[in-house]
Amino acid sequence: MAIETINTTNGNGLHQHNSGVLPSISVKSLWKVFGNNPERALEEPYRSQSRAEVQQELGLVTALRDVSFDVSPGETFVVMGLSGSGKSTLVRCLIRLIRATAGEIIVDGEDVTQFDSKELREFRRSKMAMVFQNFGLLPHKNVLDNAAYGLEVKGVNKDERYSIAQEMLEKVGLTGWENASQRELSGGMQQRVGLARALAMDPSILLMDEPFSGLDPLIRRQMREELSDLQDEIQKTIIFITHDLDEAISIGDRIAIMRDGEIIQLGTPKEIITEPANDFVREFTQGIPKAKVMEISNIVSDPDVICFETESRETLRAKMDHARSDYAVGLSHDTNYLGMISREQLDAPGGSGVEGFHEMLDTTNSPVLPNITLQEALPLCSDDDFPLAVVDESNNFIGVATQRDLLKVVASDM
Ligand SMILES: Nc1ncnc2c1ncn2[C@@H]1O[C@H](COP(=O)(O)OP(=O)(O)O)[C@@H](O)[C@H]1O
Ligand SMILES: [Mg+2]
Repeated sequence: MAIETINTTNGNGLHQHNSGVLPSISVKSLWKVFGNNPERALEEPYRSQSRAEVQQELGLVTALRDVSFDVSPGETFVVMGLSGSGKSTLVRCLIRLIRATAGEIIVDGEDVTQFDSKELREFRRSKMAMVFQNFGLLPHKNVLDNAAYGLEVKGVNKDERYSIAQEMLEKVGLTGWENASQRELSGGMQQRVGLARALAMDPSILLMDEPFSGLDPLIRRQMREELSDLQDEIQKTIIFITHDLDEAISIGDRIAIMRDGEIIQLGTPKEIITEPANDFVREFTQGIPKAKVMEISNIVSDPDVICFETESRETLRAKMDHARSDYAVGLSHDTNYLGMISREQLDAPGGSGVEGFHEMLDTTNSPVLPNITLQEALPLCSDDDFPLAVVDESNNFIGVATQRDLLKVVASDM
C-alpha cells in the first residue's frame, strides 16, 4: 500500500503566533500494536505493510501506525476518523491508560512513555485530564461531589474542593444543580458535570473522547458552541476526538484525519475542505460547504473607488465616472473606514467640505473583520449595490467583499 504524504502545513497562519513557543504536546512516531509480541509489526517487511496485511500475516492489530503531530498551547486539536481508525487508542496512549508499543509523547519536555507510576500519577493529577463519552459520573454522588471528585482523590480538603467545584459548575452553566443526583440530569447536563470535574483539576491539557456522541443532535450542537465559548475563556490545550466532520470543523483549530491507524491529513478546517489530500478525505468532506470554512479574507478585493473625507464632490464624481462605478468607499484621512457612498447620495443636494462628505455616507452595513466565514458574511450582505467593507481590528480599511464573489463560492458548494 502506498503511504500518503501528510500535509502538515499551517496554511492560514492560524498558529503562527505560537511559532517559537514549545508545543504543549509533541507526539513522535507513535505505534500501538495489539496482540502477542507486538514489536514484530515494527520490523520489516511488516513495518511497511498495511494494517490489513499485518493482521493477516501476524494476527496483530496495528491501531496506531507511526503517528506524529505537535499541538500548540491553547490549541483545539481535533482527531477525526471513522470507528476503528485508532482515535481512542491514541488518547488512551497519551494519558497512558495503555502503553504505546513505540514512539515518544513529549509533554512539557518530558516523555510520558517513560514515566514510572509515581510520575504518572502526578502527571494525571496536574497536567492532563480526560472527559469521557459516557460521562463517567459516580451515581451515588451528587453534582457537587462529582465535580469535586478529582480533587477529593488528590487529597484537597472539603472547603477548597467545593469552592473550586462550585466555580467550575458555574463555568459550565450548572449553578443551582449542586445537590441534584445523576438521575435528575439530562445527558447534556451530565456531560457538563464531567467537564466541570476535569476543569477542576486545572490541567493544561484536556482530552475529550467523543464527549458529545451520546447526545441528541440539537443538544450536541449546543454543547459544541458552549465548549467553543468556554475555550475562549480558559484557553486550554484540547485534544478532541470525534467521528463527525461537522463537529470537527466547528471547533477545531486544526484537524488530524485518521484512517487505519494513520494520520492521512493534518491541517486547518479550511485546508481539509479546500485541499483534501486524497479521495478518502475528499469523500469525507463532500457534504461540508466551503462557505463554512473559507474566510472573507479569501475573497477580499480592492474597491473601484476610494474617496477620502477631505476630497470634494467633484473629485469623487470624476473618480466614479472614470471607474464607471455606482459606489465609493469613504475613508478618513488616516484610512479608517467611514461608510459607503452611492451615486444617488453624491448627486443629491448637500453641503460641501468634510461635513458634506459625512452627510453622503451610508453606514447601514457594519464593516466586518477578515476572519469571519463566508457563511457568516452572507446574511450581512444587503440587496443594495454596496459590497461588505472589510477592516482590521482598528477599523483600518482592508478591502471589500462583493455579494457576487460570496455567492460564487456558495454556488460552487451546491
Ligand atoms: N484492547 C484491544 N485489543 C485488540 N484490539 C484493539 C484493542 N483496542 C482497540 N483495538 C483495535 O484497534 C483499532 C482501533 O480502535 P479504537 O482506537 O478504539 O478506534 P476508534 O476510537 O477510532 O473507534 C480497532 O481495530 C480495534 O478493534
Ligand atoms: Mg473510540
